[in-house]
Amino acid sequence: MLKGKTILVGITGSVAAYKAVDLIRRLRDAGATVKAIMTDKSKNFITPLSVSLACGAPVAADMFEEPFSHIDGPAQADVFVVAPATANSIGKFAGGIADDLLSTSFLVFRGGFVLAPAMNWRMYEHPVVKKNLASLLSQGAVLVEPQRGTLACGEEGVGKMAGVDAIIEAIIAVVTPKDLSGEHILITAGPTREPIDPVRFFSNRSSGKMGYAFARVARRRGAVVTLVSGPTAISAPEGVDVVRVETASEMYSAVMGRIDTASIAVMTAAVSDFCVAEQRSEKADKADIALLKLDRTPDILAAVGALSRRPFTVGFAAETGARIERAERKLISKGADMIVFNDVLAEGAGFETDTNVVTIITRNADATCQKEYLPLSHKEAVASAIIDSIIARRA
Ligand code: CTP
Repeated sequence: MLKGKTILVGITGSVAAYKAVDLIRRLRDAGATVKAIMTDKSKNFITPLSVSLACGAPVAADMFEEPFSHIDGPAQADVFVVAPATANSIGKFAGGIADDLLSTSFLVFRGGFVLAPAMNWRMYEHPVVKKNLASLLSQGAVLVEPQRGTLACGEEGVGKMAGVDAIIEAIIAVVTPKDLSGEHILITAGPTREPIDPVRFFSNRSSGKMGYAFARVARRRGAVVTLVSGPTAISAPEGVDVVRVETASEMYSAVMGRIDTASIAVMTAAVSDFCVAEQRSEKADKADIALLKLDRTPDILAAVGALSRRPFTVGFAAETGARIERAERKLISKGADMIVFNDVLAEGAGFETDTNVVTIITRNADATCQKEYLPLSHKEAVASAIIDSIIARRA
């Protein structure tokens, strides 16, 4: 998503400056060209050599060595990110003070501007810093909120620079066109967990990666996103409303309680098909295994597909082998507008991988099925292609 983009990274004088090297490397790994500007104070924490090695290019020279460096750097950049951003640099940006390469470059730059503050918690809470930040945000700057944690001074509070993942997410969001603004996308993700007794449950191998990738991509493209998630180890995507559930019936209630406002529903969850009919309050004896009675769980996708006023509804069919006709049948039987078929046994596809290989199946006006094959791609790229297909279908 950052391929071909140029990112200007400003580094100011905070102990978090060392994290800028990781940020720059990760941006380059994602395909971006990176140029860096360092303030004099930042050079107390990290050397220009480390930064230029990470960039694969020299750190921008000061205006007095290269008179137009404050014009050339910003003119070439798609995004300008200042990480870490000290209270001093934020104050200068907000006040229009232009006394070094970073602050003059800010006044020249006209694209997406991202700030990742880092400072003592008292400084971050100070009304002057708050006012300066509010002023920059009202002009379109994007804030990557600092985290709570133990700060360089040893105190605990909010002021630790956000993680590199969150900063990269903000940068990607800035360069992504907002073609889903005005849409509410409801996504289910992960497995469900059906308790047998207080210590045991049955579940499946779904990691939730596909649904979480979908949520991140939809959010970046401007949608309001609700993610109803079974148990997973993945952290909540920035700006997404995550509703955590455990069982299929909890997932059903969470979805049906929120479906009215959804314009698109995407069911990536691997919902357990069975639950234990009578839950036990005590640990079952293993001899009782033969007495276990199972019930069917509610079919959430079919319930959404049967609504008289329903969102554009997308299901996922994870099959073992090239059983695409099973997926086609699910498109019809569950009343969905689109089914995404994947063979979980195929190379690079399946539950725990970061990539997937899918076929998007939709219905033509004459009731035949249309199939669009997407080759092996990262799950975020798969999500993006599915969203493109949804937009095309609804047009
Ligand atoms: N699904 C659902 N609720 C269920 C079962 C499945 O919402 N109780 C949804 C899944 O989220 C997915 C689609 O239905 O989008 C297909 O899931 P899959 O497990 O392939 O279908 P099943 O109906 O369970 O069929 P089977 O297990 O027999 O293949």
